[in-house]
Amino acid sequence: MALVKMKEILTMAEKENYGVGAFSVANMEMVIGAIQTAEELRSPLILQIAEVRLGPSPLHLIGPMMVEAAKRASVPVAVHFDHGETEEKIKEALEIGFTSVMFDGSLLPIEQNIAETKKIVELASKYDATVEGEIGRVGGSEDGLVDIEIAITSVENAKQFAEETGVDALAIAIGNAHGVYKGKPELRLDRLKEIDDVTDIPLVLHGGSGIYQKDFRKAIQSGIRKINVATSTFNNVIKNVNDNVPFDNYFIYHDKVIQAAAENVRVHMEMFQSANRI
Ligand code: 13P
Repeated sequence: MALVKMKEILTMAEKENYGVGAFSVANMEMVIGAIQTAEELRSPLILQIAEVRLGPSPLHLIGPMMVEAAKRASVPVAVHFDHGETEEKIKEALEIGFTSVMFDGSLLPIEQNIAETKKIVELASKYDATVEGEIGRVGGSEDGLVDIEIAITSVENAKQFAEETGVDALAIAIGNAHGVYKGKPELRLDRLKEIDDVTDIPLVLHGGSGIYQKDFRKAIQSGIRKINVATSTFNNVIKNVNDNVPFDNYFIYHDKVIQAAAENVRVHMEMFQSANRI
């Protein structure tokens, strides 16, 4: 069990037709909470942190903790570097022992995105690590600081990108957005199906917070294997702490953070049908 390549987890999910949650963490309590739920539910888990989140959670501190926690888990856990922007940080994550990295070139013109992604595929191969790329533009932004307009992934671009880069997993834009959805999330499941028909790698859905269970289920039926969840974990932590922590006991706060992260991971693992797979 323990620390595994993300590709292994996604291959298992592909065989049995379920989705795997990739849960963003910002501190030790969230790491503990996510692993606790994965072990209780006997579900594979992807633990991740994005490059834009390294200000509050420096990679040289949180990275080794994520890897060590994964190694000690009794279920398979992949440790993933989300939305990598620079080769320097991606390399640092690989050196620490992350088993998967994403290069996000989605704001670049496709030819440049392909060229830059290929460099990361080559780099990651030296570490035997999995690579995720992105084509099309997911809405919102990972840190909520800019509001990127959604650009639905074209079928041709997805096919070309997958074939030319050699990535192991492909993030696509089908109406999904990071952060809290402004209205009802409307996924282009028709486009997802078309992309799945012309690519043969696992597909990734970013912006998992706020998508309805019925849409997750349909997306999984059409080839989504990895689903990223961040905002709902962070918000559940704030809520649980605000509602339940008295002023003068830090360790109640500590427990509430773990509990809230664990709870949100549970809700999503159940929706993704990844429980009882191990
Ligand atoms: P949410 O914050 O909307 O859950 O999105 C997470 C994500 O896609 C991380 O890459």
